[in-house]
Amino acid sequence: MLALRLIERKRNGGRIEPAEWRALALAYAADEIPDYQMAALLMAAYLRGLDATETVALTEAMLDSGARLDTSGLDRPPVDKHSIGGVGDKVSVVLAPLIASAGLAVPMMSGRGLGHTGGTLDKLESIPGFRTNLTLAEARRQLEQIHCVMMSQTKEIAPADRKMYALRSATATVDSIPLIAASIMSKKLAEGLDGLVLDVKRGSGSFVTTLEDELRLAKEMIGIGLSHDCPTVALLTAMDRPLGRAVGNSLEIEEAINALTGDGPPDLMEVTYALGVEMLILGGVMTSRGEARARLEKQIRTGAAAECFKRLIAAQGGDPRVVDDPGILPQAGAVEIYTAPRRGFVARVEPRAIGRAIIEMGGGRAQMEDVIDPSVGLVITAKPGDWVEEGEPLGTIFARDRVGVDTARTALGVAITIADVAVQALPLISHRVTSDGVEVLAAGE
Ligand code: URA
Repeated sequence: MLALRLIERKRNGGRIEPAEWRALALAYAADEIPDYQMAALLMAAYLRGLDATETVALTEAMLDSGARLDTSGLDRPPVDKHSIGGVGDKVSVVLAPLIASAGLAVPMMSGRGLGHTGGTLDKLESIPGFRTNLTLAEARRQLEQIHCVMMSQTKEIAPADRKMYALRSATATVDSIPLIAASIMSKKLAEGLDGLVLDVKRGSGSFVTTLEDELRLAKEMIGIGLSHDCPTVALLTAMDRPLGRAVGNSLEIEEAINALTGDGPPDLMEVTYALGVEMLILGGVMTSRGEARARLEKQIRTGAAAECFKRLIAAQGGDPRVVDDPGILPQAGAVEIYTAPRRGFVARVEPRAIGRAIIEMGGGRAQMEDVIDPSVGLVITAKPGDWVEEGEPLGTIFARDRVGVDTARTALGVAITIADVAVQALPLISHRVTSDGVEVLAAGE
């Protein structure tokens, strides 16, 4: 009866009380509420919204649906980063080993593909053998030994988010500020952190597309972090074009490996370093931003970050040789170049259309049960503002077969627009938000 009553009330615009959210999250995590009722409730919440008290109550209910990672007594502070989701956003794969190599513990719990965006877990699982469903005991041991864990929500930890996250992705209920805030903060608070850095994506490819809403989401999550003694900082970064060049699971792992070995695309490196600097400062291992940045660059230059990634892969059952030989990642059956249909400025590289194309090509899920093909994706070298000649390569299609190539060609034709005049893209990193307020780092809408 509980779920039906709450669906009705939320559908009619009413409030759900903290004790009711708690009972709901526990019952759903225990498989006592069917997916169809939770889907209806999520849609009601999506359409009617949650007030600030409800958002906090839902977060805490989801957090308490499972256990927490015990990070007490580690020899270094546990600090993490989470992105609200983007296309080509492989920053977590680079940042976790990079930051662990620089002196912090990183207990990172990530998600799978969500809506039109890719997920860190799906990307990591394209590495042969890589296992993400660790037990809490395994995660703790690994943190002690190599200072870094990249794991999924499980039946033990964040079980309500594990199920709701997958359900939201398949029911068009992702882009809701309270649902995003509760999903992210319930996972992150379960990690037992001393600090959290959030990457709030801006623009057409983000789940939140106006600056006002992006700032509101950042502030809500920072407030929840603060009330749980987890200092939280957010950077607003551009998602009006894909981040880096590669989009698709194994292609993104390859690009993350390039980043860790000193050959990452400039925009990916800038966002990675900016978030990494915040993590080192929050964790107290650095006080100067300049020195923190230099430290991160050194970890990459000396190979220390790549070594840490190899240790992480080996610890989680994967084949660490992938770092030296990305050719052992799953390879696409059909590879073709995509060229510019005319000369002009690249005006837009629309992330949503690209993310949806990857799903259609088999690299993401339209339904919860779908099995993904890690090999498919796109490498798009064109960036907004570039001048291109007709026939010049804009990217490469990696598909399963001819049908996949055609799907990608059609999608790229829509996603990449070429115009006679350049269009102003969003600044790569535009705002820094803390509990003290909002700092504008770069102007521009
Ligand atoms: N990341 C999450 O973990 N949850 C969301 O809802 C969005 C991004």
